[in-house]
Amino acid sequence: MARFTTLVLGTAVLSVSSALPTDTTHHRSARAQAVVEAFKTSWEGYYTYAFPNDELKPVTNGFSNSRNGWGASAADALSTALIMGERTIVNQIISHIPNINWASTSTEVSLFETTIRYLGGMLAGYDLLTGPLADLADYQEDVDALLAQAINLANNLSYAFETPTGIPWNNLDFATRGNDGSENGLATVGTLILEWVRLADLTGNATYANLVEQAEGYLLHPSPPSSEPFPGLLGMNINVTTGLFTDARGGWIGGADSFYEYLIKMYIYNPSRYSPLKDRWITAAESSIQYLASNPVTRPDLTFLSMFENTTVEEKSQHLACFDGGNFILAGQVLGEQRYINFGLALVKGCHDTYTQTATGIGPETFAWDPANVPDNQTMFFQRAGFYITNPQYILRPEVMEGYYYAYRATGNSMYQDWAWDAFVAINATTRVGSGYSSINDVNVVGGGGFQDFQESFWFAEVLKYSYMIHADEAEWQVARDGNNAWVFNTEAHPVKVLDT
Ligand SMILES: *[C@@H]1O[C@H](CO)[C@@H](O)[C@H](O)[C@H]1NC(C)=O
Ligand SMILES: *[C@@H]1O[C@H](CO)[C@@H](O)[C@H](O)[C@H]1NC(C)=O
Ligand SMILES: *[C@@H]1O[C@H](CO)[C@@H](O)[C@H](O)[C@H]1NC(C)=O
Ligand SMILES: *[C@@H]1O[C@H](CO)[C@@H](O)[C@H](O)[C@H]1NC(C)=O
Ligand SMILES: *[C@@H]1O[C@H](CO)[C@@H](O)[C@H](O)[C@H]1NC(C)=O
Ligand SMILES: *[C@@H]1O[C@H](CO)[C@@H](O)[C@H](O)[C@H]1NC(C)=O
Repeated sequence: MARFTTLVLGTAVLSVSSALPTDTTHHRSARAQAVVEAFKTSWEGYYTYAFPNDELKPVTNGFSNSRNGWGASAADALSTALIMGERTIVNQIISHIPNINWASTSTEVSLFETTIRYLGGMLAGYDLLTGPLADLADYQEDVDALLAQAINLANNLSYAFETPTGIPWNNLDFATRGNDGSENGLATVGTLILEWVRLADLTGNATYANLVEQAEGYLLHPSPPSSEPFPGLLGMNINVTTGLFTDARGGWIGGADSFYEYLIKMYIYNPSRYSPLKDRWITAAESSIQYLASNPVTRPDLTFLSMFENTTVEEKSQHLACFDGGNFILAGQVLGEQRYINFGLALVKGCHDTYTQTATGIGPETFAWDPANVPDNQTMFFQRAGFYITNPQYILRPEVMEGYYYAYRATGNSMYQDWAWDAFVAINATTRVGSGYSSINDVNVVGGGGFQDFQESFWFAEVLKYSYMIHADEAEWQVARDGNNAWVFNTEAHPVKVLDT
């Protein structure tokens, strides 16, 4: 949407604001502006061809509904549009929220995904629009509806906790109030507490907090003891009938990851109430430094965190796990512990190499550095890079960019802004297609080895937000250098206002 008129006078180029209300209220750096352009391109494609479905299929200009058809990309784009000051998009999204019928869906509902994307997106929108960005909403009733619909959504989901232990089912069938009867996971149980506690604090209905705290208790005091092979590091599967873990396999990987992330983030949200969770974060962090930190034999300058099964470590990791550096840095700032910051910066550097060593400049979905298992056709690559690729896709994941963001906020070192810019340029160059951006098949082939025709909703919530914020001006939601944060980002990068005390 053209909101500026460009006047060319001789050699001078002046941009003057038109009489229309402007989306941009302050000067932006060229890099920040380029990220906003990518956001607008993605949004225009989605809004034209997919809205109010969940995702855009940018190659074919189609849509998909992997998140129950409630408009996942809209919910996930809201807090990014707000932070970018994109007023038109903000109001397109918030005028849609009241129309969503949470009770109506033909597919299985994930308690975890619904919480981090929809509930987190609406609560962040509500916090920003009742706080520092109140002037971006055209209609107050749309702002009120964000909280009303968050309540409706939580009330639709809350039967998930009606199990013998209170540990919820994750996979729900709303039509029958059913569940899939399987075990639940460490991340899917342990990544509800920030959103549901915020909802409790905003509404005064303590039930939302009680439900998630009851479940969290089983993660803080895991049983049997064998499920905690290193102090603070846990298995990933829990029987919701017994409350017992059924394995001892894990790490800072998908399926476990954001449980550890939220331990320290809950302490930021409310330090007096969640001090015990901070202590568990420290226990997990110390074990990770002691037992999981790993330097590839061919590149001892790099640091990754291994996975484990029982007390056996496996030299394998994932793009998803690359949030770990940022989480150590954040905790180090909040706890005043430089050791955690330094360790986090080392992890960020390792993940940086997973990007810079590939043909596209984008990192793979999964990788490993076990010298005994290097595929024949990657021995040269392993020698040079220090890791080899075990799944070459890139599905528009944010964690490496997220790490750069925290590293920059902690150090003020512009090298991290350069790393973020290089990654953004690489992602833009290879995944930009048709009406938006798409997952690709192979980060180690120039051009990406083919498009999967899918634009994940977290592209809006996370990649574009962190890519923007690292170049953006100071704002109260930016992570604070001194560890005194006014906001804390949920695992989907939706900013939650910390509890007023
Ligand atoms: C589910 O959400 C809808 C709004 O989308 C609301 O009308 C309904 O009351 C909610 N159901 C429950 C059980 O709270
Ligand atoms: C508080 O939330 C619970 C859980 O969804 C709900 O059952 C209950 O009706 C709510 N209480 C009030 C007073 O709204
Ligand atoms: C969970 O434990 C109960 C009680 O021991 C058992 O009947 C059930 O099969 C277990 N569930 C799974 C998914 O293993
Ligand atoms: C881990 O321990 C469990 C239970 O003792 C066992 O079944 C499993 O084989 C062990 N795994 C490894 C890799 O040692
Ligand atoms: C390496 O070999 C595997 C298995 O044969 C194959 O799938 C993969 O495409 C090859 N990778 C490269 C970079 O040639
Ligand atoms: C992103 O890609 C588009 C389309 O190829 C291009 O016009 C734009 O300049 C690129 N942006 C950056 C920052 O590289």
